[in-house]
Amino acid sequence: MITRVSSVTYEVPDVEASIGFYERHVGLTVTERIGASVYLRAKSSHHDLVLVASDSAECVLHSLNFESDDVAADVERAVGAGSKDLGVVEHGGVEVAHLLEAPGGFGFRIHSTVEQVQAAPESNLAQPMHFSHFNIGVPDAAGAIAFFVDGLGLRNSDWIGSAENPMIGWLHCPVDGALHHGVAVLQTEDVRLHHISYEYENAAEIIDRVDDYVDDSHFLVWGMGRHGTGGSIFAYIEDVSGVMVELGTGMIRIGADPRWDGPKVWAPDDPRGVDEWGSSVPEAWMGKRTAVATPSTLVSKA
Ligand SMILES: [Fe+2]
Repeated sequence: MITRVSSVTYEVPDVEASIGFYERHVGLTVTERIGASVYLRAKSSHHDLVLVASDSAECVLHSLNFESDDVAADVERAVGAGSKDLGVVEHGGVEVAHLLEAPGGFGFRIHSTVEQVQAAPESNLAQPMHFSHFNIGVPDAAGAIAFFVDGLGLRNSDWIGSAENPMIGWLHCPVDGALHHGVAVLQTEDVRLHHISYEYENAAEIIDRVDDYVDDSHFLVWGMGRHGTGGSIFAYIEDVSGVMVELGTGMIRIGADPRWDGPKVWAPDDPRGVDEWGSSVPEAWMGKRTAVATPSTLVSKA
């Protein structure tokens, strides 16, 4: 069973600049470096982000990373739903990890439980509690959502538009207390990573982070606001290689949370879906995003 979405792995042109950004503006801490890969953590889970140093000038997503309590069974199910298993790859902080290619052409990893390490040292601004979710843009959102359900055992949370032809769909892991979404899928022209997100303890921590981020040349891409879908307070910033990062807090937890009453479809013209506090989706938010590598090209450098 897939128990959570642990992180993403992506390649950056200037890994030291990217590390500096995540230390300063998100609150992550380097756990260890293995080859070209740098593992960063929020608290005491070994990693919540994996950066890969690159010689190229491009920033490229390698994989979306899923934690599993039975890697062999989850790989088998994903292959049965049309994925290609590219085999075991090196992945720090876990016993085993497989790299796979999804039917939509993007890479993902299924790995065993992430080990616990010494808690990251405290800093004057808040650290996130953990990785929250990714949002991936694909030309066939309904198909990708069906794959996450059939191939990874995730469950639908919400849709904007319709379940058959969604503009956006959100999915959660099949465990009690799961975040409302570990996965979001956006209908786009080509395959792109749209954003990644970290979950903080409270809104005051995000306000402090936003105040520290914003200056004469850095502004929020969108926010602050509160998503109707998922219930979280959000602020979107951009990292040094152009990846959009959502700072979030207060997301619905599936199960005990009184705000959760099952999956629902939001009308595209219902402004509460995107922001209960009244803003609309900015063009800049829709227009962003990060290229996605062809998974088979990654095996030698995975
Ligand atoms: Fe998000």
